[in-house]
Amino acid sequence: MKLSLFVGCCIISMAALTTSSMFDPVLDEAWLGWKSFHRKQYNERNANYRRMVWEDNMKYVAKHNLEHSMGKHTFTVGMNQFGDLTFDEFRHLLSASSINDAEKISSKVFTAQQNIQLPSTVDWRPKGYVTSVKDQGQCGSCWAFSTTGVLEGQVFNKTGKLISLSEQYLMDCSRAVGNAGCKGGSVLAGFLFIKEKGITSEQSYPYTAKDGNCTFNQNDIVATCKGVQQIPSGSEVDLAAAVATVGPISAGIDAEHRSFMLYKSGIFYEPRCSTTKLDHGILVVGYGTENQKPFWIVKNSWGASWGNRGYVHMAKDLDNNCGIASNAVYPEV
Ligand SMILES: *[C@@H]1O[C@H](CO)[C@@H](O)[C@H](O)[C@H]1NC(C)=O
Ligand SMILES: *[C@@H]1O[C@H](CO)[C@@H](O)[C@H](O)[C@H]1NC(C)=O
Repeated sequence: MKLSLFVGCCIISMAALTTSSMFDPVLDEAWLGWKSFHRKQYNERNANYRRMVWEDNMKYVAKHNLEHSMGKHTFTVGMNQFGDLTFDEFRHLLSASSINDAEKISSKVFTAQQNIQLPSTVDWRPKGYVTSVKDQGQCGSCWAFSTTGVLEGQVFNKTGKLISLSEQYLMDCSRAVGNAGCKGGSVLAGFLFIKEKGITSEQSYPYTAKDGNCTFNQNDIVATCKGVQQIPSGSEVDLAAAVATVGPISAGIDAEHRSFMLYKSGIFYEPRCSTTKLDHGILVVGYGTENQKPFWIVKNSWGASWGNRGYVHMAKDLDNNCGIASNAVYPEV
């Protein structure tokens, strides 16, 4: 994690410019409340800089939500655990899930069943396919959470048991296939590894949000996979067919936007999103519509206080916004 180093640089350059008289006293109480809710503690010099960044994010939230009330946006934003981060710092938190060694890994291409009528809404959560929202913390391990999320669903389908699977195991043990723990990795490589070695449960190999040495007991392997299916890249129609007929599907998105960092509710749509520069791994657990606008139901791994109880509704059938269908996969169990 480079964040602490990075923050260090900012403090030195910015603290000199910052005095407490720059702060809006009206926000004093909100600042105290936010710090206590998110258990934030700063030393004196850092506190001034963080307050300044936080006020800037507060202004962004107020402006966006005012525009939302005037019908300019389909979603609201709000202060969350990232409220004291600059956008640049947030970008450092996202890992490149961009290891594109997909070619090296043999996978099949998913083909939707012909002439099948897809349901208008799908949600795998009440069917028992989805574990509760997890929190990757300050570690670029989104790829591991996306890998466990989709496998948890397929293992449930096969066995009828919902077992929370270990991200830390993947981070510590799958380096040989090119994954890099907190510094990023790929879902496809994760499945290549699981196919060879299996995977342990969360319980036997708990999450630490730090890179560690691989230590596990062979008896703790609880699941495996036989191969991987890839959704035809960029096709939201095929992604919908997979979500409707298979279960939750792993996907990569472009999440490097302040709007996403502070997303709160509604249908997320970001016109500046890329469909090819994917930097965050997530899990598509269903889809639906709100006021005739279709959306994907997406499970994130930033804890339950981010977004809508840890989830985000993302625009569907709007030119593959944020690349949600660009790199979607699921394992064969
Ligand atoms: C697993 O998927 C199959 C095929 O979609 C379905 O018929 C079956 O009911 C599912 N099993 C569970 C436990 O949901
Ligand atoms: C990993 O193992 C090495 C060599 O045994 C040791 O020096 C290091 O402290 C270990 N790291 C952790 C995080 O346990």
